[in-house]
Amino acid sequence: MKKRLEETGRVETEILDLREVDLPMLEERFRNIENPSDRMADFQRRIAAADALVVVSPEYNHGYPAVLKNMFDHFLPEFRRKPIGIITVSAGSLGGIDCLGQLRHVTLWMGALPIPAAFPVTKVAESFDEEGRALDPSYERRSERFLEELLWFTEATVRQRQQENGAGG
Ligand SMILES: Cc1cc2nc3c(=O)[nH]c(=O)nc-3n(C[C@H](O)[C@H](O)[C@H](O)COP(=O)(O)O)c2cc1C
Repeated sequence: MKKRLEETGRVETEILDLREVDLPMLEERFRNIENPSDRMADFQRRIAAADALVVVSPEYNHGYPAVLKNMFDHFLPEFRRKPIGIITVSAGSLGGIDCLGQLRHVTLWMGALPIPAAFPVTKVAESFDEEGRALDPSYERRSERFLEELLWFTEATVRQRQQENGAGG
């Protein structure tokens, strides 16, 4: 997805890996932490600066992993009016549809804009080759649709913000 997004020439992307950020279990929201670690502060800067986010999440027990909720709970204003593309990954054949519903619910409540398009990945262990290429040809078409929708919402909200700031029209 990262490569595809970059190939459009319309956006710059970066991967934020929660394993690397290694947030502590929530005690305080970021804005109330007096001396956040460099890693935490850097993560906050990156999500705050992003025009949109793509969340890639495995489905765990028909929900999303606790580590992801822990991350959301550390932040709030960083997500406001930010388009969120949600990719869910599952071992089963439903593609993490419950995980998708829960992520939409929480991110919408946080003031973000989870996009209507979904990208569920079913039977993940059998769906990709060694290089990470999708074995199912329908992934190509589905990812195009998903990314186009994400870019539409991203560009629309960027334009709107530019207009509000008097820079775009
Ligand atoms: C604690 C746990 C719960 C899981 N629950 C589900 C589930 O409810 N539905 C499903 O399709 N797959 C489930 N899986 C399989 C994961 O979705 C699958 O392994 C995942 O997409 C790959 O991520 P992983 O590398 O973290 O295992 C579960 C896996 C774990 C470890």
